[in-house]
Parts: sequence; C-alpha cells; structure tokens
Amino acid sequence: MKDYGEQCIGLERTGGDMSDRLAKSRPWIAAMRHPKKFWQYLRYIFKYPHLFKVSEKVEGLISFVLGVFLYECVLNSPSSSPNVVDVGSYKGLSTCYLSLAAVQVGKRIKSFELFSGLPMCDPCLDRGFYKGQFASTISDFESQAETYGCREVIDLVVGDARQTMLPALGDEGFSVAFLDMDVYEVTREVLLQLWSIAKGNETILIHDVNSLGVRKAIDEFHTLSNNRVPETILFKGTVSRLDIPPLSMK
Ligand SMILES: C[S@@+](CC[C@H](N)C(=O)[O-])C[C@H]1O[C@@H](n2cnc3c(N)ncnc32)[C@H](O)[C@@H]1O
Repeated sequence: MKDYGEQCIGLERTGGDMSDRLAKSRPWIAAMRHPKKFWQYLRYIFKYPHLFKVSEKVEGLISFVLGVFLYECVLNSPSSSPNVVDVGSYKGLSTCYLSLAAVQVGKRIKSFELFSGLPMCDPCLDRGFYKGQFASTISDFESQAETYGCREVIDLVVGDARQTMLPALGDEGFSVAFLDMDVYEVTREVLLQLWSIAKGNETILIHDVNSLGVRKAIDEFHTLSNNRVPETILFKGTVSRLDIPPLSMK
C-alpha cells in the first residue's frame, strides 16, 4: 500500500455557519506551512473555478481538493458503466462534484441517503460517531444539488443503501463509487455488494479510512476478495482508492 501523503490542505467542512467560516480560513493558514501544497490548491482554483464555488457554497463534509479528485476520477474512469455511485450524500456536496463531471461524460449519479443520519454505530469500532449523526433533509439536498450541481443527471434514492443500491443499479453496474458512510457495518456490506456486481475497471473511493471500523471493513473486503484488488491510500491516510482489476483478472 502506498501513502501519497498530505494532498489536502485542510477544509474538511464547508458551508455557512460560524464554524464553517473559521474552517474556510484553514487552507490559508495551512498554506503558510505547506507552500508547495498551497500552489497546488491555487492551481485547482484557477483550473476548476466552478468546483471551487461548490466548495465555498455547499454545506458538507469533504474538502475542495477531495472534490476535485472525485471529479477527475469520474472524467477519467476506464469503465463504460453509466452509473456513478455516491453512498452517504448527506446534503449533496459529494454529489455536486460528481454530477458536474458525470454530465460531461454521459454518466448518471446514483445518490443514496437515509436522511435520518448514521443508522448504527459500534461503540468500539466506530468511536467518535453516534446513531443519528449527520441527519439532514431532502430539501437541503435538493436545493444544493439544483443550485450547484447538475440535477438532471442525479438519481436520488432515499433509504438504506444496503437495501436500495443493487436494485437501483440493475444490470448496468457502476464505474466509480464514493463511499462515505463512516461506520463499519454499512461500509462492509456496501463494499461486498459492489464487489458482487463489479465487471472490471471500476474505481471505489472510500472516505474516513483512518476510522477503525471503516479500516476493518476494507481489510475484510481484501480477505473475501482474495486480495485481488489493489489499494492506494491518499489524503494523508483518510481516503482509500480500490481499483477493480479488468474482468479476466477478477
Ligand atoms: C459523513 S456523511 C457524508 C458526507 C457527504 N458525502 C458530503 O459530501 O458532505 C455520512 C452520511 O452517510 C449516510 N448513511 C450512513 N449509512 C447509510 C446507509 N446505510 N444508507 C444510506 N446512507 C447512509 C448518513 O445518513 C450520513 O448523511
């Protein structure tokens, strides 16, 4: 496994309240400590002003640089499946980034969200998380996706992704999946479901892999898939990228 080190210079939370405003100054403070990363950050702002606007305006829990990374993964996906999966869309931030790429390459975003927050948490594995955390509303999602994303290519599926995901994907599978559900049980189940329908060349990105539960879910996935899927660790150990091998090697 490779650690690509710190590719993100702060800004994990975005949005409109006071704590968000404080969080927004973090990249500039970080820039003083990491000038090289600061130039990369500036380069992204000039290259993707529309994505920067998303990071400034849309409330959510992923950074601008991770948003750019998701966007580029969709643009460069080697898979021909029209489906891009976003599990745990919360108020729609990750969905906005993904949808702005999907519309350019003829794909659709399948967004899965409960809106009642985290369904369960193991007190040991999912330390720091609690049941009901990150509850949000459909109208929050809709207004942000409508204003800052590309709503026409988004299919929102409300409910538990463990029950709704496979029927929503049908026979078309997926090309890119972003999993951001924070907890062991859900991550494990969704990951295994994606593996069961993978046809080869898909990319799975998982957030918060520095959390014990999410890490355990991925480790069990490696065991159950006989270690056939290479993993790359990114963003200072917080994001994992799984590259499903071509069909013949699956
Ligand atoms: C950290 S938030 C996701 C942040 C979001 N990706 C963003 O860009 O801001 C985690 C979300 O996962 C959702 N979630 C957890 N388990 C789920 C499940 N089984 N099905 C659907 N959504 C789930 C929660 O409701 C919560 O909104």
